[in-house]
Amino acid sequence: MTDVTSQPSKPAEQDRALLTNRQGHPVHDNQNQRTVGPRGPATLENYQFLEKISHFDRERIPERVVHARGATAFGYFEAYGRCGEQSIAQLTRAGLFQEEGKRTDVAVRFSTVAGGRDSSEVARDPRGFAVKFYTEEGNWDLVGNNLGVFFIRDAIKFPDFIHSQKPDPVTFERQDPNRVFDFISQSPEALHMITLVFSPRGIPASYRTQQGFGVNTYKWVNARGETTLVKYHWLPKQGVASLTAEEAAEIQGTDLGSHTRDLYDAFARGDYPEWELCVQLMEDHEHPELDFDPLDDTKVWPEESFPLHAIGRMVLDRAPENIFAENEQIAFGTGVLVDGLDFSDDKMLVGRTFSYSDTQRHRVGPNYLQLPVNSPKNARVATNQRDGQMAYAVDLGERQNPHVNYEPSILGGLREADYPAHDDQGPGITGRLTRKRIARTNDYQQAGERYLLSQSWEKDDLVANLVGALGQCDRPIQERMVWHFLLCEDELGQRVGDGLGISADDVRHLEPLATHALGEEEQQRLANLGKNGPRDVTGRTMTHCVPNERATAPTS
Ligand code: HEM
Repeated sequence: MTDVTSQPSKPAEQDRALLTNRQGHPVHDNQNQRTVGPRGPATLENYQFLEKISHFDRERIPERVVHARGATAFGYFEAYGRCGEQSIAQLTRAGLFQEEGKRTDVAVRFSTVAGGRDSSEVARDPRGFAVKFYTEEGNWDLVGNNLGVFFIRDAIKFPDFIHSQKPDPVTFERQDPNRVFDFISQSPEALHMITLVFSPRGIPASYRTQQGFGVNTYKWVNARGETTLVKYHWLPKQGVASLTAEEAAEIQGTDLGSHTRDLYDAFARGDYPEWELCVQLMEDHEHPELDFDPLDDTKVWPEESFPLHAIGRMVLDRAPENIFAENEQIAFGTGVLVDGLDFSDDKMLVGRTFSYSDTQRHRVGPNYLQLPVNSPKNARVATNQRDGQMAYAVDLGERQNPHVNYEPSILGGLREADYPAHDDQGPGITGRLTRKRIARTNDYQQAGERYLLSQSWEKDDLVANLVGALGQCDRPIQERMVWHFLLCEDELGQRVGDGLGISADDVRHLEPLATHALGEEEQQRLANLGKNGPRDVTGRTMTHCVPNERATAPTS
């Protein structure tokens, strides 16, 4: 006799729903396997047990190769119906922006980059800031970070960069500063991002108090087919607040999930975080007058020349009902744009656009877009795509002949949509096939400016964090990093050098990297290493220089 099946339900339990298996069969005994006699052996036709255990064996899908630790939230985007003081229709025909007060459902996923699925949320790392807009014209994903620039500018370097951030493949102990800075010391385009990640902004106090940036350059297209370069920025109404390494160490001593909890606790008490979406705009051409390339994601566009224009606001008000379905399986990608929004030729962006859906087909499965959290819930889907693992439904169009899963057809199949406006758009592109980096690399200027424009507690924390990490590196790596920092800004190089016992004279003899062509101004700075005087930052404003409050993350 089993100990449970023969027990009738107590009257108080009669109104609880019945447990079934996935075939809809009621489960009479969830405590005991079917066996020959109470002591076993177990039988192989034990369908209910085998289904339960084999499903459990497959409960995990591969975690994201980057951004594995994250939290999803839901809410809405509300358009202002204009772009600052300008008419937005003059700039983009994207439907979600046109009408003042128009709301679009959104799903947002905040994340850290390097750690695994259960890693600390107060690790020093950029934070992912990915937004899925469920528009009436299909989904738009804006897959950004909380820092305005990135470490590299060519997608072909991404796997190497990420390998250097992940634990040593032999010892697998932890992120190893010697490996991190081995890569960075040979990749001077990363200097600007390093001044941000090693500053307090590398550890936001919470997901609610961080900025968001599209980082890459995109395009807007209007009804006449005219294009404009655009960068996106999310500014938190809650303000920006960050932690020092000591504060973070204290929090993660007892709590690895402090940011997720902070966000969901805020929802529970009715405190809904809000961000304003702003854009910077540039005419769509190469801009030879600038000292940086508008398609270079290691650069910000200085605000005094390219002011921010507000286009809407986003409010988050709801946590997922199931973390696996809505956080693990949610899938964002830079290729997911709606009409009126377009790619630029930014080489990172193009590489990213391949990578996201490729990894999602591997990580979630070929039909990942049929999952409720990923499907365009406010637009009709009608493809001729069929089958594949986990095909959930057939997305027939209205009145579509179900026998016709191809196009063109005269038998009642799907037809192509009318093209909304001009097919040809943007400047003409000519060039020869090549493997060259962009001409205006200018790797040090904005990093130096960023240092000078930091608040003094940010500068102190940046220097302390760099000295702490570089102190664990081999001497040649330390020397090259001090050389780079001196090229950014005398004071930064000297302060980091002082902490490591390395002076400008110790590194003056270093030749420029073989892979790096210094510009004229950089060569002059090199000739004068350590004695260039502060850069002139009068009037300069950068989006990621908004005040940063020193805070302790809420832990209750
Ligand atoms: C060439 C450079 C890059 C490549 C190849 C790349 C690739 C990837 C991959 C494979 C994932 C995992 C996606 C998934 O499993 O669903 C990912 C996630 C992510 N990436 Fe990138 N990435 C690049 C650069 C960037 C940059 C510059 C940003 C920020 C502007 C960024 C932001 C994100 C975010 C926010 C996520 C997490 C999305 C989520 O929450 O599901 N990535 N990236």
